[in-house]
Amino acid sequence: MQIDREGSAPNIFPGNWDVVTQELLKTYEAWFKQNWGPVELPWDELDRKNFDDSEAVAQAYWMAKLALFEKSGIGAFSLATLQAARYNMEDPTKKFLAGVTYDECRHDEICRRACNRLCPGFPYKFKPKNTLEEKALRNIQVLYDNGRRYWSAFEQVWQKYPLELIFSSFFFAEIGAQLIFKQVADKSRLSVYRQAFSNITKDESRHLAGTLALLERLASDMPKEQKLMITRQMKHGFIYLSPLLYRPMHEFWRLPDDFYEWDRKLEEIAADAGLGVPTLEEKSEKWYQAIQLHRKKLEDLGVPVPAIKEVGVDGVEISVKKGDNIVATPL
Ligand SMILES: [Fe+2]
Ligand SMILES: [Fe+2]
Repeated sequence: MQIDREGSAPNIFPGNWDVVTQELLKTYEAWFKQNWGPVELPWDELDRKNFDDSEAVAQAYWMAKLALFEKSGIGAFSLATLQAARYNMEDPTKKFLAGVTYDECRHDEICRRACNRLCPGFPYKFKPKNTLEEKALRNIQVLYDNGRRYWSAFEQVWQKYPLELIFSSFFFAEIGAQLIFKQVADKSRLSVYRQAFSNITKDESRHLAGTLALLERLASDMPKEQKLMITRQMKHGFIYLSPLLYRPMHEFWRLPDDFYEWDRKLEEIAADAGLGVPTLEEKSEKWYQAIQLHRKKLEDLGVPVPAIKEVGVDGVEISVKKGDNIVATPL
């Protein structure tokens, strides 16, 4: 157990109502104005009768893949909310993180509803009837299995790293999420997806504003070595998110040899059915743009960008070996 400055175990009481970072308060307040509900979307459009079997399972596949990252978001941000309260961080930090947790629930709910309409029971209680369905289910099971390794490492991180370091790395996933979900919204031909993903993009933009405000506040008193650790976590973040936002990177993901072949096939079928899944080239281009867009701000804060050659990003070389624990935050 970590011990706080006064030498006692951390506690949520007496708490505080301090507002130090105005930007965080503003971001938290924006949440109320931008509130939306997954129940209000035109779900009838995902009528099973409108799709053949492969189109149905392919869309459920992508939604179940997205759900892995939404679920890790629910876990990570709720744990972060609790830590922020235990370690007496300023009030809007706690409330902002709780808001993000709620958003992750609503994103996961979109995934649950889509799967439920298209492929009832997918992935947890689904019985495949052909090879495509088998491979779709197998891919998801394997991803979730890897997710267990991610989560165990994430829980241990709190004993290993300063709180400030963990909190200041939250922004990276949001950078990619904001642009790529906008792409999904723009490319989708079904309005249920267009609406869901433009709402998700709004959430992600808010997450990005808040997590960048956290970074800015925390990085100002940070030694150089810690800033380099943020760089390292950015690289980890890219690797962690790769099965969804790029293509799976084997430094972390232990997957069967034919994983990606089926993954691509399923993503293509989902795209043909009207779910705007971007191609590998489109994802890569968006990552590049997203990182370049924020590069100056990060460098001004003394946080170097890592080299991510896969998408053409130059920066500090960070070596990540196969089997290293990944310390990254989710969407
Ligand atoms: Fe999310
Ligand atoms: Fe997010």
